[in-house]
Amino acid sequence: MGLTFLVTGGAGFIGGNLVRHLLAAGEGHRVVVLDALTYAGNPDNLAAFVGNPRYHFVHGDICDRAVVRESFSRHQPDVVLNLAAESHVDRSIDGPGEFIRTNVVGTFELLDAARTLHGALEGERRKRFRFVHVSTDEVFGSLGAEGLFSESTRYDPRSPYSASKASADHLARAYHHTYGLPTIVTNCSNNYGPHQFPEKLIPLVTLNALEGKPLPVYGDGKNVRDWLYVDDHAEALALVAARGVPGETYCIGGNEERTNIDIVETICALLDELAPTPKRHRELVTFVKDRPGHDRRYAIDPGKIERELGWRPRTSFAVGIQKTVEWYLANRPWCERIAQGTYRRERLGLAAGVRAGGAS
Ligand SMILES: NC(=O)c1ccc[n+]([C@@H]2O[C@H](COP(=O)([O-])OP(=O)(O)OC[C@H]3O[C@@H](n4cnc5c(N)ncnc54)[C@H](O)[C@@H]3O)[C@@H](O)[C@H]2O)c1
Repeated sequence: MGLTFLVTGGAGFIGGNLVRHLLAAGEGHRVVVLDALTYAGNPDNLAAFVGNPRYHFVHGDICDRAVVRESFSRHQPDVVLNLAAESHVDRSIDGPGEFIRTNVVGTFELLDAARTLHGALEGERRKRFRFVHVSTDEVFGSLGAEGLFSESTRYDPRSPYSASKASADHLARAYHHTYGLPTIVTNCSNNYGPHQFPEKLIPLVTLNALEGKPLPVYGDGKNVRDWLYVDDHAEALALVAARGVPGETYCIGGNEERTNIDIVETICALLDELAPTPKRHRELVTFVKDRPGHDRRYAIDPGKIERELGWRPRTSFAVGIQKTVEWYLANRPWCERIAQGTYRRERLGLAAGVRAGGAS
């Protein structure tokens, strides 16, 4: 049955891929995107849907109560998928204020508008309403060499970004316990795939390598992340919206732990094949000063969503990274249009305004 989804942050990396997944699902879903088009929001990510009668775009800020309320009352969503966020840890180190505003205050505005809408719903519509809040594994802090994050892991956020996301998660749960709003929180690992803004490790390294620029690796390069292909994540979110239990949390991970230096070397090896140059790309690797407070390892146990909702990541890292690098090679105009914006792939997140070229 066709539902109406309100996807906040739909012009971003995961949001754009999720919108494509929902519109292509063959169930006649309508998708309304609410996005402020910050530096990370890219209309190009949504260009393919313009003209589709089941797609509608609202240019607006989730902190703007009037815009949020108007979007809820006009479009009457069955499902809210909240992805709008300031999402880059390094930027949160340089300027935490915007993270508190969007990630905490914006989530509050959405939850409160959802509470009003849900309060007025009856029957089937009330039963199927869901507010899915998309969060991160970074709220759990840092792991040692062993162990995995799961739904019962204690919160221990350590950057302004993860602290702001943790606050929003608590608000989403509080709205369930206090008001009976059917909220669900998801905590996922690092996503990668097409359309990711090039401040993040994989696109940054790919694009720098293509231009023969240094490939900055923070610290010793041994920090570990669990990589999740963005289409697999989109599938998980759609499943959580359809079958997830209100008040529950689902951890979503790719079962693909890699050190940062492994990632960089894999991209270099792929580019040696796909875009050969006289020098091997790995010669561009440059170790740079570490991120302040850089968490050592994140890894997710996705057992609950696998057991209870039957989801599994379909895309191995080997396949996903090849598809991703090929996408960036085939979509240079997308990259070039981003390069015309304010971001120049400079080093962010040293907290002192130092700019020296960097990644994560
Ligand atoms: N990318 C990852 O690896 C990852 C991992 C875990 C969790 N997440 C979470 O998933 C969500 C999406 O991440 P992403 O990587 O696609 O982010 P992104 O930075 O690519 O996109 C964020 C989107 O939110 C929009 N936005 C920002 N502030 C807004 C505001 N005040 N009002 C309306 N729109 C606003 C931006 O314009 C952009 O389109 C975020 O909530 C993030 O915390 C991402």
